[in-house]
Amino acid sequence: MFLSAAVRSAVSQAARSLHQSAVRAGAGGIFVHRDTPDNNPDTPFEFTEENKKRIEAITSMYPEGHKQAATIPVLDLAQRQHGWLPISAMNKVAEVLEIPPMRVYEVATFYTMFLRKPVGKYFIQICTTTPCMLRNSDSIVEAIQNKLGIKVGETTPDKMFTVIEVECLGACVNAPMVQINDNYYEDLTPKDIEDIIDELKAGRVPPPGPRYVHNLHNRFLYNFKVICELIVDEDVCSFSIGVADSPVSLQAD
Ligand code: FES
Repeated sequence: MFLSAAVRSAVSQAARSLHQSAVRAGAGGIFVHRDTPDNNPDTPFEFTEENKKRIEAITSMYPEGHKQAATIPVLDLAQRQHGWLPISAMNKVAEVLEIPPMRVYEVATFYTMFLRKPVGKYFIQICTTTPCMLRNSDSIVEAIQNKLGIKVGETTPDKMFTVIEVECLGACVNAPMVQINDNYYEDLTPKDIEDIIDELKAGRVPPPGPRYVHNLHNRFLYNFKVICELIVDEDVCSFSIGVADSPVSLQAD
């Protein structure tokens, strides 16, 4: 009776395998680089004049001899310019920062935000770390896969969507959530994510942020039930007002 419905639900689910998709797909495939026709040291890459000025502005913020500190923002610039990071772009970053290429590879292979192979126009990162998992992020993963007809780690044939599973994106307070390109969509239900994908398919970018207004009523009821179970008794808290065992199974008003 002291175990909340959310925890019981999570514990009872079959164990999922450890996250592999960031490695398998969007974040760059295997950690070891293998030359391909599209990704080798001779793949054309040069910063635009505009980005060269940005790099100057970024590196000027650091003391002489500490350009390495700008590795992440300069890698980000390279990725925004090219869409992803071929090894030639990483080598160029190393060149402009005057550091060994390995120092750049170390960063690019560590963070899932850096993409070492092309991804779809909309890059969906679904967080499934514990707070999101307890808020049933599995149902969001399932909804995305069913909606797009692809598995986590894959890209749709029309190159519009890529989906990967990632660790905490720092929006736990509004779990479950996804990041799509630069936008966070939070406090999601399966219907929310389906609607968001429909909007993107139609060429519209839905407003980012929590779906809190839509889900506030349901969240309140759900949290009330969880607290009630913790401090009173599970049977007493079997409301007849339609509160289900999971926040995402509740329907918005
Ligand atoms: S656990 Fe998902 S955003 Fe933190």
